[in-house]
Amino acid sequence: MPVISFVSSKGGVGKTTSAVVLAGEFAAAGRKVVLIDADPNRPLEAWARLKGTPDILRLMIDDSAETIIDTIEDARANADFVIVDLEGTATDRIGFAIARSDLVLIPLQSSVLDASEAAKSVKLVHQMRKVANREIPYRVFFTRVPPAIRERTARDIDRQFSDAAIPVLPATLIDRAAYRALFSLGGILHDLERSDVSGLESAKENGREFAQAVINALKGEGA
Ligand SMILES: Nc1ncnc2c1ncn2[C@@H]1O[C@H](COP(=O)(O)OP(=O)(O)O)[C@@H](O)[C@H]1O
Ligand SMILES: [Mg+2]
Repeated sequence: MPVISFVSSKGGVGKTTSAVVLAGEFAAAGRKVVLIDADPNRPLEAWARLKGTPDILRLMIDDSAETIIDTIEDARANADFVIVDLEGTATDRIGFAIARSDLVLIPLQSSVLDASEAAKSVKLVHQMRKVANREIPYRVFFTRVPPAIRERTARDIDRQFSDAAIPVLPATLIDRAAYRALFSLGGILHDLERSDVSGLESAKENGREFAQAVINALKGEGA
């Protein structure tokens, strides 16, 4: 079953948040998910300690280059979706995870094109394509997008990246308090109550759109 890795050359761009939002959407749709925390800082372990995980969502922790491939393949055999959360700095482990992925998602946290940040991750994916001797699909996507400029940003970015032949996911993750709340309250978006956080319905709708765009990318749309 598909393995999706979140990769970026920088910390703090929204990998872990996006990984939990995506895992939550799949779990809420009744799909079996394994979330692999491959970041030595163990952000997902800390997240899972808050409220546990839904039964259908299993967390595995592995930040070792020696075992990450086996962990990914073990997870693949036991889940509908495997989501790998990696840290920001380049390591062998990140290369190995990319080499085993069916889709690499590269978040950028800016409403302005930051081509050089994306380019580093894209270059790594291209290197791993040679190592694995196969196509490794990837998409760049924007996180923490201010709600008001979403549509325009999406259009601008699409144009700029298409000039550089870098495929962009046709969905962004908006900057929402609900996404931050996942890491103070724990659980997934579907566990939150309206009284917990403002803008919950918009965050849920955005999460659904994001997950659908990821599924479409797995099917090869927008390559
Ligand atoms: N879509 C979002 N909306 C609101 N806050 C976000 C969003 N994505 C990330 N953040 C916040 O940005 C910070 C970094 O996000 P994180 O997911 O930990 O990044 P990374 O895993 O790339 O280091 C965190 O404080 C997180 O709560
Ligand atoms: Mg992280």
